Amino acid sequence: MLITGASSGIGRAFAHRIALDGGDLVLVARRGEVLERLAEEIRSQTGADVQCVPADLSTPGAADALVQTLRSKDLVIDGLINNAGLGLHGDLGASDPALASTQIAVNVTALTELTARLLPGMLSRRTGTIINIASTAAFQPVPHMAVYAATKSYVLSFSRALWEETRGTGVRVLAVCPGATDTAFFDVAGENASVGKRRTPENVVHAALKALRSDRPDIVDGTANSLLAALAARMPSRFAIALAERSVRPAAPHPQSA
Ligand SMILES: NC(=O)c1ccc[n+]([C@@H]2O[C@H](COP(=O)([O-])OP(=O)(O)OC[C@H]3O[C@@H](n4cnc5c(N)ncnc54)[C@H](OP(=O)(O)O)[C@@H]3O)[C@@H](O)[C@H]2O)c1
Repeated sequence: MLITGASSGIGRAFAHRIALDGGDLVLVARRGEVLERLAEEIRSQTGADVQCVPADLSTPGAADALVQTLRSKDLVIDGLINNAGLGLHGDLGASDPALASTQIAVNVTALTELTARLLPGMLSRRTGTIINIASTAAFQPVPHMAVYAATKSYVLSFSRALWEETRGTGVRVLAVCPGATDTAFFDVAGENASVGKRRTPENVVHAALKALRSDRPDIVDGTANSLLAALAARMPSRFAIALAERSVRPAAPHPQSA
């Protein structure tokens, strides 16, 4: 199984679970030394074959370069977890435009390009699993996180379409939509981006692997998150947008002390 964003959070939890279940791993993220430490830990606990391929998925051509590296190592990939991602909090008009591009590059472009490059091999071997990590932010626009929510709507829409395109081929595509989960995500996104009680990365992995055994195109992790997502998808959009805005509204600045 190739896992992007394996150095932390949900990706790291997937790596542990899959190796414990007997799978071999290819771990991808920018921090090679963190990946190497994780690989060593997993090898000694499980005996799994774990390869590390450090890569910055925000750079143009990153997916292509990654696939070339896999080929040069004779690694055949029948499982892909597109998990690497980041979300930034702040109004678009007041943000560095380059940060919007980085979110799109990692959350959308790299995910799409990796899928497009690895899917044909899976189809020809008639076996494969692709798990794309979306978010409950996919179900409505999120003011103050406009780009992030739009990238996750893309991931959900893309995955649902591929689910249908691959039915009966031996390839299983699943979109996973976590709500707030206790990871380093909020080190980047900021605490204002957090909605409700955080679940654990292990909760998300458990929900994903359980959903893989069903025929559904997508899964929301957690009952409260599922209810909120279903509600948001059915509400008139102005109400869904207002609710999302309140949830991640920037905290009022503290009054300056004299
Ligand atoms: N935590 C939440 O509340 C939450 C909710 C919904 C959805 N999600 C989604 O879950 C996924 C995993 O996030 P997480 O919560 O586990 O956060 P995390 O702990 O911050 O992990 C993010 C991972 O992505 C990797 N990454 C970031 N930028 C990268 C780049 N340019 N190239 C390669 N790898 C990169 C990071 O590795 P390096 O820093 O080593 O590169 C890290 O391994 C993301 O897609 C996120 O949008 C999270």
